[in-house]
Amino acid sequence: MQNLEGKVAIVTGGGSGIGRATSLLFAQQGARVVVADISLENAQATVAQIAEFCGEAIAVKVDVRSDADCQRMVEQTLERFGQLDIAFNNAGIGGYPHLTADYGVENWQRVIDINLTGVFNCMVHELKAMEAGGKGGAIVNTASIMGLKGTISGSAYCASKHGVIGLTKASALEAGRHGIRINAVCPGYIETPMTTTGDDLVADKLIQAELRRAAIRRMAKPQEVAELVAWLSSDKASFVSGSAYTVDGGVTAG
Ligand SMILES: NC(=O)c1ccc[n+]([C@@H]2O[C@H](COP(=O)([O-])OP(=O)(O)OC[C@H]3O[C@@H](n4cnc5c(N)ncnc54)[C@H](O)[C@@H]3O)[C@@H](O)[C@H]2O)c1
Repeated sequence: MQNLEGKVAIVTGGGSGIGRATSLLFAQQGARVVVADISLENAQATVAQIAEFCGEAIAVKVDVRSDADCQRMVEQTLERFGQLDIAFNNAGIGGYPHLTADYGVENWQRVIDINLTGVFNCMVHELKAMEAGGKGGAIVNTASIMGLKGTISGSAYCASKHGVIGLTKASALEAGRHGIRINAVCPGYIETPMTTTGDDLVADKLIQAELRRAAIRRMAKPQEVAELVAWLSSDKASFVSGSAYTVDGGVTAG
């Protein structure tokens, strides 16, 4: 039997990068997947890839900044599949490379709204659905190694990802009595559009400098994050909750 046979999973940010790789792996492991993204077109492209190996998935447009959108995303999941077992709250943006004093409150607010409040908005409705379902569940939130440490010109991103870890721990304590496990993943440097598009040479140089100090001196493929998420989402992780797992090639080990 596959790890996620019979499960229904939501993946936010499922139209690209880590979210797409995880949607594909969830489906390969037998889950029916709701691929949610602010870009419906990209979510549909992920669904098409899943259909290629006869997996079952639907695409849903969601802006995680909107509580109403997140509510609708969960309602559509229940309408289509009748249950919700797994949620991977992963949608996020990279933020803006500015020193704190120059950051600007609008830039700050945008990063916090998507990366932190977005995870909160999703969890509110996912938890209600899982509690009502009465069969427990597993939630994984995407933080970052920047949820564990700081980086220059990354104040909002770091704050948002530290916040995701705090939110994960606090809500895990509450949800345990409903059989719901909640964990966070902290990826290091992953090859996705977030890190490979754009022409920010400073960011590129910072990444290369960080990788020279890592245990595994390369960036990761999104699939290497997806493997951890799939395990945390499966019943094999039955005693794992309230934790933040690095998947960073040892970049934070030194
Ligand atoms: N790539 C890395 O090196 C890295 C490292 C650590 C953490 N992360 C985190 O991983 C997550 C996924 O990032 P990725 O690298 O796959 O990037 P990505 O840009 O490939 O994917 C992000 C996805 O989120 C979606 N999205 C953005 N804003 C949204 C919104 N308001 N509502 C719904 N969807 C929205 C985008 O459309 C996109 O499909 C993010 O939370 C990011 O912070 C990435």
